[in-house]
Amino acid sequence: MNKRTILDLTPAEVQGKRALVRVDFNVPLDGATITDDTRIRAAVPTLQALRAGGARIVLLSHLGRPKAKPEAKYSLAPVAVRLAALLGVPVQFFGETDTDDAVLATKTLADGDVLLLENTRFLPGEETNDEALSRRFARLGDFYVNDAFGTAHRAHSSTAGVAAFLRPAVAGLLMQKELDYLGSALEHPKRPFIAILGGAKISGKLDVIEALLPKVDGLLIGGAMACTFYKAMGFETGSSLVEPDRADMAHDLIERAGFRLTLPHDAMVAPSLEAKDKAHAVKRDEIPATEAMFDIGPDSAASFTRAITSAKTIVWNGPMGVFETPPFDGGTLAVARAMAAATENGATTIVGGGDSAAAVEQAGLAGSVSHVSTGGGASLEFLEGKLLPGVEALDDKAA
Ligand code: 3PG
Repeated sequence: MNKRTILDLTPAEVQGKRALVRVDFNVPLDGATITDDTRIRAAVPTLQALRAGGARIVLLSHLGRPKAKPEAKYSLAPVAVRLAALLGVPVQFFGETDTDDAVLATKTLADGDVLLLENTRFLPGEETNDEALSRRFARLGDFYVNDAFGTAHRAHSSTAGVAAFLRPAVAGLLMQKELDYLGSALEHPKRPFIAILGGAKISGKLDVIEALLPKVDGLLIGGAMACTFYKAMGFETGSSLVEPDRADMAHDLIERAGFRLTLPHDAMVAPSLEAKDKAHAVKRDEIPATEAMFDIGPDSAASFTRAITSAKTIVWNGPMGVFETPPFDGGTLAVARAMAAATENGATTIVGGGDSAAAVEQAGLAGSVSHVSTGGGASLEFLEGKLLPGVEALDDKAA
């Protein structure tokens, strides 16, 4: 990576200094209960390293999508409790973010102390990357660390703008790990290199398909978006989710990609998601007019498994079906298991965040792949070849 990280800082730049650390603590909550703390755990190595260096840690994060004003259900207070348990040290929570009192709170910290401020998205100006807000954030620290890979595709005040007013501005260890895994997969993959893309809509994946096609040896498509390709091939798609206005693009992709693009040969269909007891497998050109595809079929799951286990670099983004509703989890589970088997054989396996990360977690295989990204949208934009504003804003490594 060509950006400075916390490991490039001198001891004098860290010891006794306030580290303003942007983390992505946008975790799922059920009331005040955190239902998945993966993102909090992922930030721990950076926080431990900074504490070991004698820094005083000030944490900024967003949670959910509040509309630029406080909303109790999006408070970060429950996160402070979980973080304290994970770090094994007290974590102070302060219910303000950019105020003079928040600045004062940062100035009372001792070396190694940890302070979490309230949700950055409670503030007007955060999502518009307002310069005045960025300047106010900059008062909260003596140097800036961005470890929020999951939010690095957002050009917000706390993820990008603040870095213009607070230097050094460096990457945390999670950010570095994410960029190293995704970057080396794209830049010098061990071959064969294959990508598996799934999810409901082809429209959200067209850019990533275009960006990956010239780089990969194979591109496997699953999920409901396969149906838009079927439509382009002239097949009956029944009541499946199809984007008819994207069928021409799908057709064009099929022609250009040639043998590198693999679509599922069969599908698990049912009259509806609720009628899952009527689920059955059909060939892709035999989808009944009154039924819909909810997963790839068993033959496709087997052929995807063969492709994955014979590859050396595999990137996966998006489920193969409605994996939350068995029996439509078969394709996604087969891919997750094949990813684990490929890892065992020495392949580098990377799972994009969001639904596919949830699927490997559900399959109990998150620890059996090389890397599970903490960023859904961010990893997708990175794979699309886009620059991430949260990364661009950081200090370049000296040449
Ligand atoms: C995510 O969950 O993908 C990140 O935290 C970014 O959240 P956002 O999509 O609300 O910007």
